[in-house]
Amino acid sequence: MKKVKKAILPVAGFGTRFLPATKSSPKEMLPVVDKPVIQYLVEQSSEAGIKDITFVTGRGKRAIEDHFDKSFELDHNLVEKGKHELVSKVRKISSLARFSYVRQPEPLGDGHAIACASHLMGKGDPVLIFFGDTLYDAEPNIATQVIQAFEKYQAPIIGLAEVPMEEVSSFGVIDGDDLGGGAYKIGGMVEKPAADEAPSNLVAVGIYVITPEIFKILAGMNDGKSGEIRLADAFDIYLREGGELYGQKLEGEWLDTGNKLSFIKATIKLGIKHDEIGEDLKDFVKKTAKEL
Ligand code: UTP
Repeated sequence: MKKVKKAILPVAGFGTRFLPATKSSPKEMLPVVDKPVIQYLVEQSSEAGIKDITFVTGRGKRAIEDHFDKSFELDHNLVEKGKHELVSKVRKISSLARFSYVRQPEPLGDGHAIACASHLMGKGDPVLIFFGDTLYDAEPNIATQVIQAFEKYQAPIIGLAEVPMEEVSSFGVIDGDDLGGGAYKIGGMVEKPAADEAPSNLVAVGIYVITPEIFKILAGMNDGKSGEIRLADAFDIYLREGGELYGQKLEGEWLDTGNKLSFIKATIKLGIKHDEIGEDLKDFVKKTAKEL
C-alpha cells in the first residue's frame, strides 16, 4: 500500500479578500494568536507523517521561505538572552519537514499551482494537497483524517464539510453516495451552485489526497470555464473517465481563514484555548457580548 509522505501547499494566490493587509505580505503569514496560519498547516502535515513539503509560491511570498528556514541571528540573540523556551519554539519550525519551493509565475488557478510542483513528486506517489487557508481545530487533525480515508479507499480523497444550504454557492459541492462513517463515493461536483440547484450541502474545504492520475489530467488541461486551471475541473474529468473518487466529512471545527469574518472567529476560538491569554480573552468576549 502506498503511504502519503509528500504534501503540496499552494500559497501563490493574491489573497484579495484581505487587501490591503496582503498588498506586500502573504495572507498565509497572517497570525492566528501567535502563529502564522501556514504554520498550523505545516504542523498538522508533519503530525500526519508528511516528510516533504513543497510550497507553490508567487511574488511577495518570500516571508514564507524565511519562516520555515533557520534564523541564525534570532537564534543567537535569544540564546544570549537566555530565552530558552523561545529558542526551542523557533528552532522547531525549520525541522517540521524538508521544505522546497516552486514558483507559479502567474496565479492561473489552484490546479495550475499543483501542476507546477508535480515534477518534485515521486512517480506513483499519492500526495496531500493543503490549501493555505484551510484551518481546522480537530483531533486527529484533518491531514491525518484525509490520509486515513486514502489508506482505506486507495483513491483520491476530498475533505468535506457540511454547511447550511444558503452558503453552498461559495463552494465546490459534491454529489455522492453515503458510505457511512462520514465517507462518500463521489459521482459529480458542481462549482458554486445556486442553493436550489446544489446536489447536497457537502462542500470541499481545501484539503485532498491526490494520485498520479490527477496530476496527469492537470498537466493536459487548458483554462476551464472559470478562465483558471482548477483542481475541481480535474476531478470532473477524472470522474468522466471512470475514475473512483471519495469524500470524507471531516471531524472538528472548520475555522476557514480565507475571509475576514471567519479569520476573526478563528482567532477568538483558538485564542480562548491558548494557555497564556485564554482566560483573559474569554472574560473580554463575555464582557463585550454583554455590552452589545
Ligand atoms: P483562494 O482563491 O482561496 O486564495 O485559493 P487566494 O487567491 O489567495 O485568495 P482570494 O480569493 O484572492 O482572497 C485557494 C488556495 O490556492 C492557492 C491560494 O494561495 C490558496 O491557498 N492558489 C490559488 C494558488 O496557489 N495559485 C492560484 O493560481 C490560485
